[in-house]
Amino acid sequence: MVAYIGVSDIRRLVHAIGPATFIEQLAAEIEADYRRWGAFQKSARLASHSQVGVIELMPTSDGELYSFKYVNGHPKNTAAGLLTVTAFGMLADVATGYPLLLSELTVTTALRTAAMSALAAQRLARPDSRVMALIGCGAQSEFQVIGFSHLVGIDELRFFDVDPLAMAKLEGNIRAVPELSRVRLIRAQSTMAACHGADIVTTVTADKRNAVILTPRMIAPGMHINAVGGDCPGKTELHPDILRMANARVVVEYEPQSRIEGEIQQMPADFPVVEFADVARGRVPGRVHPEDVTIFDSVGFALEDYSALRFLHRLVQDEGHGRQIDLVPRIADPRDLYGGVIGGGRPWLRVAGKGAIR
Ligand SMILES: NC(=O)c1ccc[n+]([C@@H]2O[C@H](COP(=O)([O-])OP(=O)(O)OC[C@H]3O[C@@H](n4cnc5c(N)ncnc54)[C@H](O)[C@@H]3O)[C@@H](O)[C@H]2O)c1
Repeated sequence: MVAYIGVSDIRRLVHAIGPATFIEQLAAEIEADYRRWGAFQKSARLASHSQVGVIELMPTSDGELYSFKYVNGHPKNTAAGLLTVTAFGMLADVATGYPLLLSELTVTTALRTAAMSALAAQRLARPDSRVMALIGCGAQSEFQVIGFSHLVGIDELRFFDVDPLAMAKLEGNIRAVPELSRVRLIRAQSTMAACHGADIVTTVTADKRNAVILTPRMIAPGMHINAVGGDCPGKTELHPDILRMANARVVVEYEPQSRIEGEIQQMPADFPVVEFADVARGRVPGRVHPEDVTIFDSVGFALEDYSALRFLHRLVQDEGHGRQIDLVPRIADPRDLYGGVIGGGRPWLRVAGKGAIR
């Protein structure tokens, strides 16, 4: 039997642990895996593009466990009452190739993206960062706020969305989280106003085009930019001059994938970047100078979903009563797939002796 985590299960697990602690624990798993970067088979994700969105497959393996995620990105979906990003994925045992876990990853993607963003900010933002501007108040946004408040120490949030309903939704949700009661919420009138005086700027908007959410005049020395929403060819959020700023340092997840999908798709192929794994392993410093503008050019990498799936699998195993599904046949004779599943109970198809069929 294969363990199964549906939406109701992830809700139960996050409630039991608490969203902030869940993100913290997941961040620790992701960090530990980035530290053993060399153990992972890595490839840029396989993307199938259409006029309105993208469907992607994200596989990786460390030789013991294999995982993949199916994820889409359809920015116009929300107008039809559908999510922009949905996902599910699987964890498998490399030794047998058998699936171990099939899981929802829509909610989990939001949790792991927040964990990853906070992890990067812990190393790239100024340690005294307390004020965050949040541009885009959609499905990912509350998770980002929880991660940054809990793991980075953000206690003032200036948020902006082109849709006032999204801003009202975010405010209502954040006010209902007891752990976030100390976070001061300020509705901004524009992206420019939100960024003014911020230590960290998180962009998490959805638009399938080269949008210009942030321009150089919104950026002050010492800022950290957590650019989450630009994650596809032709889909970016930062004006390229921000990347060109003399004091800018750009950190990516997996360089070959980010060259195609990240903000750096706007730059020449030799534009200098640092991979997060090198920062996590202490090979390259995160922030060097208080005046640096650090940019985490996030697109989401398969390793983060691997970490999340392994974490979820352990949680349901520890619980001991996770849901199971019959995704793979369990049959007495593994060579008798037909008889064991389709022909089961039909005596004329049973093997009577060696090579003989009655
Ligand atoms: N990097 C990663 O690992 C990662 C993970 C998940 C999602 N994403 C990306 O993050 C983005 C947001 O995802 P979501 O699920 O929250 O989408 P969503 O559609 O739920 O929310 C997007 C929000 O952005 C707002 N918006 C659009 N244009 C804007 C603008 N110019 N200024 C201000 N607000 C604007 C929309 O009104 C909406 O509220 C998507 O592009 C998605 O692909 C990236």
